[in-house]
Amino acid sequence: MSKKASIGVTGLAVMGRNLARNLARHGHTVALHNRSAERTRKLVEEFGDEGEFIPAYSAQEFVDALQRPRQIVIMVKAGEPTDAVIEEFAPLLEQGDVLIDAGNAHFADTRRREKALRERGLHFVGSGVSGGEEGALHGPSIMPGGSKASYESLGPLFEDISAKVDGEPCCTHIGADGAGHFVKMVHNGIEYADMQLIAESFDLLRGAAGYAPAEIAEVFKTWNTGRLDSYLIEITSEVLKHVDAGSGKPFVDVVEDAAEQKGTGRWTVQIGLDLGVPISGIAEAVFARSLSGSKPLREAARGLGGPSRAPLNGAALQTFADDVEQALYASKVVAYAQGFNQIQAGAAEYGWDIDLGRVASIWRGGCIIRAKFLNDITSAYAEEPGLPTLLTSGGFRKAVEDAQDSWRSVISTAVRLGIPTPGFSTALAYYDGLRADRLPAALVQGQRDFFGAHTYRRVDRPGSFHTLWATTDRSEIDA
Ligand code: 6PG
Repeated sequence: MSKKASIGVTGLAVMGRNLARNLARHGHTVALHNRSAERTRKLVEEFGDEGEFIPAYSAQEFVDALQRPRQIVIMVKAGEPTDAVIEEFAPLLEQGDVLIDAGNAHFADTRRREKALRERGLHFVGSGVSGGEEGALHGPSIMPGGSKASYESLGPLFEDISAKVDGEPCCTHIGADGAGHFVKMVHNGIEYADMQLIAESFDLLRGAAGYAPAEIAEVFKTWNTGRLDSYLIEITSEVLKHVDAGSGKPFVDVVEDAAEQKGTGRWTVQIGLDLGVPISGIAEAVFARSLSGSKPLREAARGLGGPSRAPLNGAALQTFADDVEQALYASKVVAYAQGFNQIQAGAAEYGWDIDLGRVASIWRGGCIIRAKFLNDITSAYAEEPGLPTLLTSGGFRKAVEDAQDSWRSVISTAVRLGIPTPGFSTALAYYDGLRADRLPAALVQGQRDFFGAHTYRRVDRPGSFHTLWATTDRSEIDA
């Protein structure tokens, strides 16, 4: 009998192709399938010497090429194409076989698919995969959900091809059904926030301190040797250094200033609202992209009056880059704290047992938000597994408290000069909101009770109350 493949990949566009090559390079025999045969042929032709591939040109041939339990990675567009592929293969599979969706699916779709396939005796694993094309080939961060049983066969393969940090694989079983895609969604939300904060830092260094893009590239390069050491800071420096060949201008000045999105950040915010988790840093990052892309609106508002203040000089200018570093760091801690709270809330809502420290540790390598900083998050959860927010853990608490004067001063400068810093500002408002003894929410409750008899609770005794606002003595009743 001819050799069978330990795993198959269907959907051989660049992500699928690179995952298949990564698996083969690690000594796993990989069955290949694609809707059009051409891609399959090309992969074998170009990369056939990297490992053992079994090309298949029909669904049946593909399924027959796999050893049991069959493991099929689906790497097609999220949404209907994924359902179509599932329907193509599911009827050909047997009890215990595993279908893996490694695209950026919505976790609710993953939950639906997992349930439907479980009822048919099949495992369905929704797996987050982060790191783009390069990551897929050289080692991504992998976030598989689905049953524990499916991870027994799939885990060793995925751990093998994932990125490694300090010898540890950047892959772990996240939790049941849609947990993997949920965590990947939050990863992307954090990615949006991180990118926005970095972009605001750039804008401030340029607008308030007058640095040129190439100089800012150097500032980021320096930051990348410290606590902000991360992939996103590293590539920011590269992008800012780049000069457009045609015009000789900084690349960043020839790119249209309208940020696009495929939608995972938007999902994060939508789910944050559903779960009632304040993820304002992520939300502002999504809205900042929307604002940048609102062309007619921006066109109409162009020329609206702003402050006529001179940029920084003297001592303020001297320390400004350091101040921005502090503001960026503190805002980043807030964004991560919010993201991890969202994972906690999702786990509680959907009954997932998610190890937050492990999540931070598999994000240390391979993924877009990979950063030294994630080690500190892992340590924070190791020290205090029930940590309510990263902001109260020893190390972060001190760092943010130490950063706050700079953080506040940078935001004041931005406000004074009319430079928009929605990410920095909302992060600080969140921090101040969380640490406040009393919030004006008490007044909001009073307003709600006044116009809608919505009732309120008191600080001095239990129960619900309503004030009879229309009466002259405004007496209070139990509600
Ligand atoms: C990753 C990325 C990847 C992709 C997103 C974001 O983790 O590898 O997050 O999933 O870059 O789709 O793209 P948008 O900015 O277009 O939403």
